[in-house]
Amino acid sequence: MFGQWMAVQQKLGLSMNFWFGHQGYEYVDLGRFWQIFLFVGLFVWLALMGRAMWPAIKKPSENRNLLVLFLISSFAIASFYGAGLMWGRQTNLAIAEYWRWWVVHLWVEGFFEVFATVVIAFIFTQLGLLRVATATKAALFSTVIFLGGGILGTFHHLYFTGTPTAILALGASFSALEVVPLVLIGFEAYENLALISARTWMANYRWPIYFFVAVAFWNFVGAGLFGFLINPPIALYYMQGLNTTPVHGHAALFGVYGMLGIGLMLFCLKGLSEQRVWKTGSLKFAFWSINIGLVLMIVLSILPIGVAQTWASVEKGMWFARSAEFMQQPFLANLRWMRAIGDTVFASGVLSLGWFILGLKTGHSFVSNIEENDVEEELEVSPNV
Ligand code: HEM
Ligand SMILES: [Fe+2]
Repeated sequence: MFGQWMAVQQKLGLSMNFWFGHQGYEYVDLGRFWQIFLFVGLFVWLALMGRAMWPAIKKPSENRNLLVLFLISSFAIASFYGAGLMWGRQTNLAIAEYWRWWVVHLWVEGFFEVFATVVIAFIFTQLGLLRVATATKAALFSTVIFLGGGILGTFHHLYFTGTPTAILALGASFSALEVVPLVLIGFEAYENLALISARTWMANYRWPIYFFVAVAFWNFVGAGLFGFLINPPIALYYMQGLNTTPVHGHAALFGVYGMLGIGLMLFCLKGLSEQRVWKTGSLKFAFWSINIGLVLMIVLSILPIGVAQTWASVEKGMWFARSAEFMQQPFLANLRWMRAIGDTVFASGVLSLGWFILGLKTGHSFVSNIEENDVEEELEVSPNV
């Protein structure tokens, strides 16, 4: 953080800036030294994952295929950050961009998606809600279609970075295919909801699973719909780097992987709180505020700004849509302020989630013993996951 700040203040000098400051490439902006450090960290993470999975993989069981797939996606996540080390301080911008998207795009539209699918499928099999054979087949099928569109789809970031026309055509066609699995995932949201009502003891897992439902919802809306909106070359020709990009970026990145992170964290916490029953009021509030906050932030602010910019870009040109002259008009300033509404709702959800988790330590997030007896009569005892 200090290096980034120093770099922005232009206090580091060009060479030091490359190593310890801010490289200026979004998402891979860390100085090279810190990049290497992070790369090592990712392998430490991989070792921790591998160590935990190894005993289960060694044992012949029907879970094995799913676990191996999980391990492969973890390996891909760790190793693909390596592509971020492929350029030097003075590499041509087009080449640095090429490698940068190996990291960013292949992570979020490739290996993270596989990781997410497998981990959710695995949890459902452990809860006894899906048969392992079905889950494995579904996970393999999704992996094939995700990677089938996603790998060559990387070129949708390179339409206008000096690539040949053939690459533009390939990127446009394959990335359009990426939307297919995302639409199917929309159905998954319904199915997950159905799973919650399948067994009474599932009520114990309601909120962690709701976060998985949110993952499916935002995959469909944020990645699928808003991604597709900017994806055809003719659309991106006018819209690249306008506010339509953060509409998609926020909805997809937080919507999918933020929600996944929270869902997985809650599953772990549920496992750690043994058989005690959660008091879920603050969790419920957190879930709805975070999701509604994200919707409001997009609908009230960044989307209208993006649409206004797109209009200006088509009418006059992208230079104009991004100019201070255009962006500083009063109605756009007002729309920017509208973000405060969604952001506040979102932030209150974050605080509420923090309050809930704090309560697992202090006890205020558990139903008290007397109340618990009543609740347990209603819910049959849950399996120990
Ligand atoms: C969960 C999956 C996804 C995540 C997390 C995600 C995230 C992002 C983010 C953060 C950006 C901004 C990158 C930057 O400007 O540096 C971006 C750009 C972009 N995304 Fe996605 N994305 C996902 C899926 C998709 C899908 C499925 C498509 C299309 C089929 C798509 C199409 C695009 C395009 C065309 C851009 C470039 C916009 C521009 O250059 O202005 N994305 N994505
Ligand atoms: Fe992409």
